[in-house]
Amino acid sequence: MSQPSFPPAHGRFVTFEGIDGAGKSSHIEALAEWARARGAEVVLTREPGGTPLAERLRELFLHEGMDALTEALLVFAARRDHLSRVIAPALARGALVLCDRFTDATFAYQGAGRGFDLAVLAQLETWVQAGRQPDLTLWFDVHPGEAARRRAAVRSADRLEREDEAFFARVRDGYAQRAHAAPARFARIDAAQTREAVRADAIAALASRPWFADTADGQERPDERA
Ligand SMILES: Nc1ncnc2c1ncn2[C@@H]1O[C@H](COP(=O)(O)OP(=O)(O)OP(=O)(O)O)[C@@H](O)[C@H]1O
Ligand SMILES: [Mg+2]
Repeated sequence: MSQPSFPPAHGRFVTFEGIDGAGKSSHIEALAEWARARGAEVVLTREPGGTPLAERLRELFLHEGMDALTEALLVFAARRDHLSRVIAPALARGALVLCDRFTDATFAYQGAGRGFDLAVLAQLETWVQAGRQPDLTLWFDVHPGEAARRRAAVRSADRLEREDEAFFARVRDGYAQRAHAAPARFARIDAAQTREAVRADAIAALASRPWFADTADGQERPDERA
């Protein structure tokens, strides 16, 4: 089965991964500001979601009970819409796309966390992404107990966040396996550190990529930093 392909990418695609409460959302905006200040057009988005249709699927995904295959199909359906309408067009015009979670989360949560068939996920990944992969994945890695403490301090839990620590330990292992399989794409960030140290490590990982100079001109513009 051949898939409709996406237009050539001139920008770069960076994903933020890690278990719930690791600190992804805390740092994505800061990285966007940092990259904008260096001349990049930055598109900030998230999964599941990122388009009107995918956000509706996100609500179902987070709050309805469903079997593992339904969950996988729903999340990849949302991803297809998101890739086609937002990510691929942004990359085609040369933007830096920062995405809060992507396919590694599906392998970590539905695969390692729930025990869903990894071969089926890999097939869906091939169909939906037609070869499109992140250029860099920032993996915010922290012990599940610490992540649970952070979550408990701030909000009530959704369907996935109510899972126990053993579930998040499996998800963390799932991320470790993905990182092991794609070491050039992954940067592991020690998310147990202070916010400042985590932010500095995340920026360093982005700045150290040789392609970063192509998406940004490297010139700092302090006056544009609010
Ligand atoms: N390095 C840190 N030290 C202490 N607390 C932190 C740190 N980073 C983030 N937090 C806090 O932990 C909580 C969870 O962070 P955040 O929402 O960014 O996690 P997340 O990875 O986006 O989680 P989710 O997957 O559930 O969206 C927030 O209250 C945040 O302020
Ligand atoms: Mg978040």
